Amino acid sequence: MNHRCIKKSFALVLFFSIIFSTTAIADGGMWLPMLLKDQKYQKMKENGLKLSAEDIYSINQSSLKDAIVQFGGGCTGELISNEGLLITNHHCGYGQIQKHSTIEHDYLTNGFWAMNRTEELPNPGLTVSFLVQMSDVSPHLLKGVSSEMSENERLSLIEQNKVILKKAVNDTCKYELEFEPFYQGNQYFMFVYEVFKDIRLVGAPPSSIGKFGGDTDNWMWPRHTGDFSLFRIYADKNNKPVDYAVDNVPYVPKKSLKIDIRGVKENDFTMVYGYPGHTEEYLFSDAVRFIVEKRDPTRIKLRDTKLAIMREQMLKSDKVRIQLSSKYAGVANGWKKWMGEIRGLERMNAVAVKTNFESDFEKWLAQDENRQKEYADLFPKFKTTYQNASEHALAREYIFESVFGVEAITFAAKVYKTAQNKDLTPEKLNQMLSSMSQGFFKDFDATTDQMVMEALFKIYYQDMIEVYQPDFFRTVEKKYSANFEKYAHDVFAKSIITNEERFNMWLKKADLKKLEADPIVQIYLSAISFYTTELAPVLYLHDNELSVLNRKYMKAQLEFAGDSVLFPDANFTLRVAFGKVGGYEPKDGVVYKHQTTLEGILEKEFIGAYDYEVDPKLKKLQSDKDFGIYGQDQTMPVCFSASNHTTGGNSGSPVMNAEGHLIGVNFDRNWEGTMSDVMYDPTQCRNIVLDIRYALFIIDKFAGAGYLLNEMDIVKN
Ligand code: ARG
Ligand code: ASP
Repeated sequence: MNHRCIKKSFALVLFFSIIFSTTAIADGGMWLPMLLKDQKYQKMKENGLKLSAEDIYSINQSSLKDAIVQFGGGCTGELISNEGLLITNHHCGYGQIQKHSTIEHDYLTNGFWAMNRTEELPNPGLTVSFLVQMSDVSPHLLKGVSSEMSENERLSLIEQNKVILKKAVNDTCKYELEFEPFYQGNQYFMFVYEVFKDIRLVGAPPSSIGKFGGDTDNWMWPRHTGDFSLFRIYADKNNKPVDYAVDNVPYVPKKSLKIDIRGVKENDFTMVYGYPGHTEEYLFSDAVRFIVEKRDPTRIKLRDTKLAIMREQMLKSDKVRIQLSSKYAGVANGWKKWMGEIRGLERMNAVAVKTNFESDFEKWLAQDENRQKEYADLFPKFKTTYQNASEHALAREYIFESVFGVEAITFAAKVYKTAQNKDLTPEKLNQMLSSMSQGFFKDFDATTDQMVMEALFKIYYQDMIEVYQPDFFRTVEKKYSANFEKYAHDVFAKSIITNEERFNMWLKKADLKKLEADPIVQIYLSAISFYTTELAPVLYLHDNELSVLNRKYMKAQLEFAGDSVLFPDANFTLRVAFGKVGGYEPKDGVVYKHQTTLEGILEKEFIGAYDYEVDPKLKKLQSDKDFGIYGQDQTMPVCFSASNHTTGGNSGSPVMNAEGHLIGVNFDRNWEGTMSDVMYDPTQCRNIVLDIRYALFIIDKFAGAGYLLNEMDIVKN
C-alpha cells in the first residue's frame, strides 16, 4: 500500500534515465540496479547470470533488493530467513559486540550466541534500511539550474527543489527520502528507504574466528577470517518499523536469500549487491598525485604513531584492550588500506595513466570546435586549483588526523556543542550529557589518549610551518618551550573532559563559562577557529571550484567514452557489481588460488603470531574432519576471492551465484587491489568473501546454535 502511495505521487515524476553509452576505460564497475537492464544486464547474462533484471530489482514484485539492507550506516547486510534474521560481517557488528562486552562477559573473546529469541541483545541506535525504490529526479532537482550560476546559487536552488519534491512525494508515507548526486552532480536520484530501529544481536563467533588474522591479514589474500555476525530485525505487529520494545516481533521480509552450499569453482559467475561508499575513479591527474604523494603518506605517518601507542597500552591490560579494540581496528583499517593504495597506484603508474588519458582527451577536444570551446579551460583550471590549495588541503589532514585523532578533543567538541544548545531545558541537557559521558568513559583510557596527544601534536608541529598551525601551538611554544610531554600532561591533569569524576562534578551545574575555560575545550576552540578563519575560506573556494570542474570533466568524459557505459562513482547507494570466482598472480612466479580452507588456519597458527590463535574446539573439528554437510573433499572451505569491484561499505554484502543464491559474504579486498577506489586493475583487484559454508559450519558445528539453520532455506543439491 505504501508502495502505491509513492508510485501515485510519482506519476508527476518524469523518468529521465540518461543512458550513458560509452567505452569502458577498464573492467569493474558498480551499477545502479534500476538501470541494469539498459546497461550491464546483457553482459551479466553473457557471463552466466540466470536471473531476469526484474528478479534483481523491481518495484512491482519482490526482488533480490528486498533482501538487502544498509546496515548501521556503513555496511551492508542481507536477510537469510523469513523471520528477520540477517547476516553481516563480524567487523560490521563489532561495535555492538564490543559494547555488550565486559571483562565478565567478554563476547569479543568468547563469542556470543543467543540460544533462543529472548537472549537476543538490543542495540540502541543501530538501524537497518531497506530500499523501497529509487528514481531519477534530475529534471526536478536541476530545474532552473544554469551554467552561469555560482556553485552556491546552484546548490541552494537544488535544495529548494528538493523541498518541493519531498512534499509532493512523501505526503503520507512513513519513509525516509534521500537525494544523491551522481556523475559529480550531472544527475540526481531519489532513494526511498524504510528504516528499522529494533535490531538485536543474535550471534557472533569469538574474535579468534571472526577476526582471525586481525590486522596482520587485514586487506590480504589468502585469508581465513570467519568475518560474520547475525542480527535480527524486529517490527511492530503490522510488520512496520518501530522503536525497541520487548514484545516487538521478528520482521517478515518481502524476500530472503536462499543459501547455496553446493560450493564455488573458478570462473563461476558472482554478483555483489550492496552499498559501496566512496570511489574516485574519474579524477584529474594532479588529484591522484596529491593522494599518492601527500594525502595517504600523511595519514599513514600519523596513524603509525597512534597505533604503536595504542598497541603497547592494549597489551598491558585487558581492560584497556577491550576499551580500545574497536577503535584500534578502525584506525588500523584505513592505515593499512592507504599503504596498499599507494603501492597499487604506483605499480599501475596511475599518474601517468591519467596524464596519457588526458592527452588523448585533448586530442579529442581538438577535433571539434564546440568541444574545444566548452572544455579547453578544464585542465589549466584544474592545475591552478590544485596548486593553490594543496598545503591547505594537507593542513586539513593534520587537523583531522592529529587534533581530532585525540579522543578527548572529539568528545569535548560534542559536549561543547550540546552545552551551547539553548533550546534544551537544564534537565534535558543534563540527561543528554550524562548519557554521552557514560558511553564515552566506558571506553576511554586517559593515559593512552594523553600519549597520543603528545605524539601527534609533536608531528604536526614539526611537519607544518606556523601559518598552518592553530594558535594553541603558540602556547606550547611559549609556556612549555615546545615540550609536548609536559603540555599533554598538564592538559590531561586539569581537564574535566579527561576524568569521569571531574566531568560529573562539572555536570552538576553544567556551567558553560567553566567549560569554555577547560584546556581541552580550549584546544578544540583554537583548532576550530584556525580551521574556520584560515583554512576554510581557501578550502571552500577550492572545493567549490573543484565541484564545478569535476562536474564538467565528468560530463566530458562521458561524451568522450562514446559507446561504453561509465558507472557513477560509489556514494553509499545500492549497487550491483559482477565478476567471477578466481585467484590472481600478485607477482612474478606466484599464483594465488581462489579458495582457502580450515587447514590454512592451522598453518597460520603454527607461525605463532598473536593474530593467529586458534580455538581448541575448532582444531578438534579440523582434526576429526567433522565438517558436517558443509565440507568438500575432506576439507572445510573458509574464504574465496572473486573479481567483483567493491569498496568500503560493501562489507557484509551478499555474494550471489548465477541463480541469486547466497554463496558468501563480502568482507574485504586484497592488498594488491586496494587502489581500486581510484583506479581498477582487472588483473589484480579481488574482493574477499567468507564462504557461506564456513559460516554455517561455525554456527552449527562450532557454536551449537544449529537451531538457527531451521529458519534458513538451504540449497543442497
Ligand atoms: N578491511 C576491512 C574493511 O575495510 C575491514 C576488516 C576489519 N578488520 C580489521 N582487522 N581491522 O572494512
Ligand atoms: N572491508 C570493507 C568494508 O568494510 C570492504 C572493502 O573496502 O573492500 O566495507
